[in-house]
Amino acid sequence: MSIESPNSSGIVNGLKGRGRLATSIKNLTKEYVLKSETVRALRGVSFDVPEGDYVAIMGPSGSGKSTLLNLLGCLDKPTSGSLFLGDDDIAQMTDDQLADIRSQRIGFVFQSYNLIQQLSVVENIQVPLYYQGKLGAAERERAIRLAERVGLKDRLDHRPSQLSGGQQQRVAIARSLVNDPLFVLADESTGNLDSVTTDEILALFDELNEEGRTIILVTHEDDVAERAKRVVRLKDGMLHTDEVISEEKRSAARDAQRAAVEELLKRQ
Ligand SMILES: Nc1ncnc2c1ncn2[C@@H]1O[C@H](COP(=O)(O)OP(=O)(O)O)[C@@H](O)[C@H]1O
Ligand SMILES: [Mg+2]
Repeated sequence: MSIESPNSSGIVNGLKGRGRLATSIKNLTKEYVLKSETVRALRGVSFDVPEGDYVAIMGPSGSGKSTLLNLLGCLDKPTSGSLFLGDDDIAQMTDDQLADIRSQRIGFVFQSYNLIQQLSVVENIQVPLYYQGKLGAAERERAIRLAERVGLKDRLDHRPSQLSGGQQQRVAIARSLVNDPLFVLADESTGNLDSVTTDEILALFDELNEEGRTIILVTHEDDVAERAKRVVRLKDGMLHTDEVISEEKRSAARDAQRAAVEELLKRQ
């Protein structure tokens, strides 16, 4: 299964620039200023992510994972330091420029799905296009193909409340792909799912990465992190470790998960 990309070459944009950096951050800090105190959520984080990488961000609760992902996703601005997406210096951009970058290059999968309850599956997937004023038949067709890709072919007209958590997560993933993003960012997107659904969602991330998209996901599960190519650990708002996962370890994690899922399915 694969979706057609909107450019005529049939190759997602990410494949063009192999060897380039998808993102580069240096001494990145983020402080939240509250009435009573200032929370230093990130205290100087630096790392580079080449295009096509697949990074899992781990670390204890409160260590700054979501803050970092939100900055990478251009949902928020850093307090200091530099953040490049490709050649663009995000820290210097206006809110409008950030919104453009988000809608052109970034697919963000929120932990809480953030679906619109009044809209159907297909309509929810189309929401990012709606903000760009694109709502024609071609866009609807694209949304339907994405729904099919994430296994929701028979749920096109369902509302979020009529779906399981795993199905809602798939809608959120399909919605994140509707702009054919170079960058897919996901915050604990398998955190509340059963192992069968987790395996399906991770298989989808594998596919997206094989297509050349850069993936960065936050997770607290070791077996999810081992499916990535690299694990970055945060601690107290700082980078603690940065580890490459060998291809052997990745495929062992895939096999172990698949075996566990098959075992589970046999018992049902
Ligand atoms: N919008 C916010 N306003 C104030 N403090 C925040 C905000 N978001 C996060 N924080 C604080 O920043 C720190 C890092 O939070 P977060 O990035 O959500 O961590 P994680 O995702 O690793 O659990 C925490 O101490 C958290 O309470
Ligand atoms: Mg978080």
